[in-house]
Amino acid sequence: MFETSLDISFLAVSEPILDKVGQAIASATWANLGYLISATFFIFGIKGMTHPRTAVRGNMLGAIGMILAVLVTLWQFHGSTTAFLVVLLGVAMGTIVGVILAAKVQMTQMPQLVALLNGFGGIASLLVAGAEVVKKAAGIPYPAATGFAAALAGIIGAVTFSGSIVAAGKLHELPAFKDPIRFDGQQIANALLVGICLILAFVMMAGYGWPFWLLILLAGVLGVLLVSPIGGADMPVVIALLNSYSGLAACAAGFVINNNVLIIAGALVGASGLILTGIMCRAMNRSLAHVLFGTLEAKPGSVTADEIYSGKIKETSAEEIAMLLDSVQRVVFVPGYGLAVAQAQHIVRELAELLEARGAEVCYGIHPVAGRMPGHMNVLLAEAEVPYDQLKEMDEINPLFPQTDVVIVIGANDVVNPVALTDPNCPIYGMPILTVHEAKTVIVIKRSLSPGFAGIPNPLFAADNCLMYFGDGKKALNDLIAAVRES
Ligand code: TAP
Repeated sequence: MFETSLDISFLAVSEPILDKVGQAIASATWANLGYLISATFFIFGIKGMTHPRTAVRGNMLGAIGMILAVLVTLWQFHGSTTAFLVVLLGVAMGTIVGVILAAKVQMTQMPQLVALLNGFGGIASLLVAGAEVVKKAAGIPYPAATGFAAALAGIIGAVTFSGSIVAAGKLHELPAFKDPIRFDGQQIANALLVGICLILAFVMMAGYGWPFWLLILLAGVLGVLLVSPIGGADMPVVIALLNSYSGLAACAAGFVINNNVLIIAGALVGASGLILTGIMCRAMNRSLAHVLFGTLEAKPGSVTADEIYSGKIKETSAEEIAMLLDSVQRVVFVPGYGLAVAQAQHIVRELAELLEARGAEVCYGIHPVAGRMPGHMNVLLAEAEVPYDQLKEMDEINPLFPQTDVVIVIGANDVVNPVALTDPNCPIYGMPILTVHEAKTVIVIKRSLSPGFAGIPNPLFAADNCLMYFGDGKKALNDLIAAVRES
């Protein structure tokens, strides 16, 4: 009798609990299904980004995937109004900051914005992991593997955050970040910091939470020491690498809170960031180790600007170029960083259309590292609605230069510098270039004879077949259009 009454009371208590467990499992299953669908959107989104024609669609797919992931996460909070409101508040604050940044930041400041966003990604993962550590201190335990994942999210997140702040500061040319931190034995100090962080991570596996705070402090110092000595010229590669780190930190945070979409999205960002870093290094013909630990300076023996330019520069005018363009068959535009500075993308398309209407064949030669970001020129020209089939990659356009009447280089310098092919002492030696010097006539539009990113003179400007048209890219092209219309 006693036993039976006990059994009944057990069932009476456990039924609601079982009910709740069942509901939780069902809710987790639906959430994971939602996350799986959003991850599929991410993958198709990235696939779309591999070609300018499908890039906009790819971007949309990625955004839909992200909205779905956010909605599923919000739905999981539907039981707790406070948590729901806190998440909504975060979304609202992030949206306001994002919209202001997008409206204010100039296209040429995009690299530092991307650096900052990477840094925010890193610190977000760090905070997610930190919250779990705080919960543990309050008596909610977690398994050893979670402790290790939290440590990894903390280490990578802190390196990403401090490294990205330094990278953004350097790119923005803030005085505080101008002087690199360099000292003897720096690599050894960095290795030591990595070693201590890993030891602390293993201590966290043993169930302790306190090493987390020490570990993020040391990893933050490591991020500064790693990025500070790297020259501004290599910053875009570093940013791609930090982007990859921010993905890895998110992936580790996903393991901490057992969130599948964070694990998948973090892994996708980590992998794609690494692939991008590899592509950029290849396009500059430099190894990642050289970018991270080497310097980009001309060695003694390189020719000086005076030696190259004196008495050999031929200046031209809009009217002269208009005459030259009168009977051309093929014109190739080569855009570079200066096109972005001048915001001349729309005006260059206008000139191209004018020349096409007069029977010329027009296309654009795109160097993989022209500008300051991967795909910089593609983005600018797509914004100006230049037809995608007119954008030719380096391998496709280079063989066409010898049969090209006129090449118009707008604000490009390093990517058309022939010393990359000939001078082993120059810092860009080995970088594949657009061989514009092989065309019949080259017109270079830029404001002066100032060097480009790599800081070296360019013998192309002094070549027999090259004419210099000095001026701001936009104004020069506007004047040229007026002259072509009049001719
Ligand atoms: P740069 O070699 O940097 O040359 C840009 C030129 O634009 C300058 O010489 C400048 O000359 C001119 N310019 C600036 N403002 C202008 C304006 N308003 N109107 C007209 N011209 C203007 O550019 P690039 O040829 O595109 O080469 C890119 C460089 O960045 C390469 O060295 C590459 O390795 C490096 N880099 C790129 C990336 C990526 S992912 N894109 C990553 C790492 C490094 P003036 O001052 O005389 O006008």
